[in-house]
Amino acid sequence: MSVPQVFITRRLPASLEQLQAIAHVEIWPERQPPPYDVLLAKAQAVDGLLCLLTDKIDRQLITTSSLKVISQMAVGYDNIDIAAATAQKIPVGNTPGVLTNATADLTWALLMSAARRVVEADKFTRAGLWKTWEPDLLLGPDVAGATLGIIGFGRIGQAVARRAQGFEMKILYTSRQRCQPEVEESLKAEFVSLETLLQESDFITIHTPGAEDTYHLLSDRQFALMKPSAILINTARGTIIDQNALYRALSQKQIAAAAVDVTEIEPLSMDSPLLSLDNLIITPHIGSASRQTRAKMAAIAIANLIAGLTGDRLPHCVNPEVYS
Ligand code: DGY
Repeated sequence: MSVPQVFITRRLPASLEQLQAIAHVEIWPERQPPPYDVLLAKAQAVDGLLCLLTDKIDRQLITTSSLKVISQMAVGYDNIDIAAATAQKIPVGNTPGVLTNATADLTWALLMSAARRVVEADKFTRAGLWKTWEPDLLLGPDVAGATLGIIGFGRIGQAVARRAQGFEMKILYTSRQRCQPEVEESLKAEFVSLETLLQESDFITIHTPGAEDTYHLLSDRQFALMKPSAILINTARGTIIDQNALYRALSQKQIAAAAVDVTEIEPLSMDSPLLSLDNLIITPHIGSASRQTRAKMAAIAIANLIAGLTGDRLPHCVNPEVYS
């Protein structure tokens, strides 16, 4: 039997020993992702692909490939045409669970930074503007006791709510499916409509997947419902917020501030008008960027890949229909 061939689109923070014991592994050596034509050609030559959310795994790539498994090192997989992979009976793996805490932590880091204007304050200090203590310098709202609206109440949304308990916040959530009463009770979370959440929350945070039905979930109409003091956080996917509407809402002070770890097109263009706003914090998609989390994500992605190559069921498969 010939040795399976594998292409990995970036160097990974995990041991490849087990994988190399069963497959011939090629790793893309650059910091930038492989261009689409390289990916297309590789997919036609290998059995297994380990990819990242920066790699476009579309219908053309999938239908012309020799792939037996696609393993994504991320929980989200909006860069992959899952329907096409399912039609080809190619299992697609992802890495759920292990990045819940890291992403919830970054959400809180952004929420606190936006509320207490940490980035602005740092710039102020470095610019030599700190001349004295001032009663009204860089004021922001209280976090403790405020209302937190969580859009999407899966693992990460709930982890954000758990952290909010320490701040004695009122928690509203909206989600495709309402949670079990025990979950609502333990997190002291109230299920409301999106409209109510937008109208009543002081802080709004997004934890729903990037998909067709969440595309531009927040646009001009939704910003108009928010309080002028509202602070919006997004560590999920950039496509969920209409970026032009976000610019309008922030520049016209329709809402107070925002902090986003994701943008509609990544990386954000240096020409983006968003970069001119003082009331916006932007980080470069680092929600899961703790050393331990990235190592766990890589290990799961490798385990999914090995399972796919050896004909076993992937430990974390996003299209289990391929097995029926
Ligand atoms: C994911 O896993 O989907 C994050 O966006 C990157 O860690």
